[in-house]
Amino acid sequence: MRYKSFAAMPHTRLSVIGFGCWALGEKSGWRDSDDAESIATVHKALECGVTFFDTAPVYGFNGSETLLGKALKGHRDSVTLASKCGMLWDENRTIRRDLSYAAVRGDVEGSLRRLQTDHLDLLQLHWPDHAVPLEETARALHELLAEGKIRAVGVSNFSLADSRAMQRLVPLSTYQGLYNLLERNPESYHNIELEYRTEREILPYCLETGMAFLPYSPLFQGILTGRFTAHSTFGADDVRSANPNLAGTAFARYMAVCEQLKPIAVEAGISMTHMALAWLCQQPAVGPVICGAHRPDQIADNAAAADVLLSAETLTKIQEVLKKNAM
Ligand SMILES: NC(=O)c1ccc[n+]([C@@H]2O[C@H](COP(=O)([O-])OP(=O)(O)OC[C@H]3O[C@@H](n4cnc5c(N)ncnc54)[C@H](OP(=O)(O)O)[C@@H]3O)[C@@H](O)[C@H]2O)c1
Repeated sequence: MRYKSFAAMPHTRLSVIGFGCWALGEKSGWRDSDDAESIATVHKALECGVTFFDTAPVYGFNGSETLLGKALKGHRDSVTLASKCGMLWDENRTIRRDLSYAAVRGDVEGSLRRLQTDHLDLLQLHWPDHAVPLEETARALHELLAEGKIRAVGVSNFSLADSRAMQRLVPLSTYQGLYNLLERNPESYHNIELEYRTEREILPYCLETGMAFLPYSPLFQGILTGRFTAHSTFGADDVRSANPNLAGTAFARYMAVCEQLKPIAVEAGISMTHMALAWLCQQPAVGPVICGAHRPDQIADNAAAADVLLSAETLTKIQEVLKKNAM
């Protein structure tokens, strides 16, 4: 494993490959999630040198945090634990955004309980909530920092303007956003419109501020592993069935680019998975690449991408394909 440090989080060494824990546990919304296997996957991650774990209360409606808390027992001090706040749900599991003072404080107390810890190394504001003034959210964050319940703050899915405005109120260490070889300046995530353009706006902003950029869905929800075709479909029990980019003509367009990238990986003697992850790891603004994984073999494979160094020639070939297929 390799590790990086960032000016905006100077005392923490972050593994270049992280573990995105959305799919942990039986209730995650991803098919095939099994609690015992999820715990084994976390333990394999630790064995491979992965030290950055990203979760959220809303993942599996508390299930991901509960499982991660169990799995990390005895390992808490050797990991960087990141969770999120501001996505609440009702009895029908209808999710709403809420970054009010009470919601932020309540979320953190719940996360600490489920994760069986007295502090989060990083608390991220999951999605912007335009109904609440940033100052109100910042008041909760300042208190949590002063109480030692959180050690650093990050934003996720915020517009550039809102990130800058929040940064004037609270020091920000990280930005988490959608980014992978096929989604470089995406305009939507599932059916949610995105208020930022990753490569165009957010990466330069992270470089300027020394923040670590955490790319989510780094494998385009598994598509960049090269295992799928334009005819692949996802069952109703698979969260990917709710992503309009993974069906119909949009999916066919993405798969066509994927097919153009495959020979570059073959020529470089590496898998598509490793090429997609190494491409992210080699970018200076990019911090832990938070890969999702269901099984120990998947996280082990992802962790091994940290040792892959793409040559200048391979990077140029990738760039040519991306340029030809601006999307
Ligand atoms: N901030 C946000 O709003 C936000 C939004 C989305 C995600 N996230 C974070 O980002 C993390 C990762 O994103 P993601 O789970 O959407 O997508 P991802 O990491 O791009 O894809 C994960 C999926 O790819 C497949 N996979 C992973 N490694 C593999 C390997 N080595 N070989 C073959 N298949 C492999 C697995 O699915 P199958 O085995 O089922 O194919 C896995 O569940 C999440 O867990 C979460 O922490 C954050």
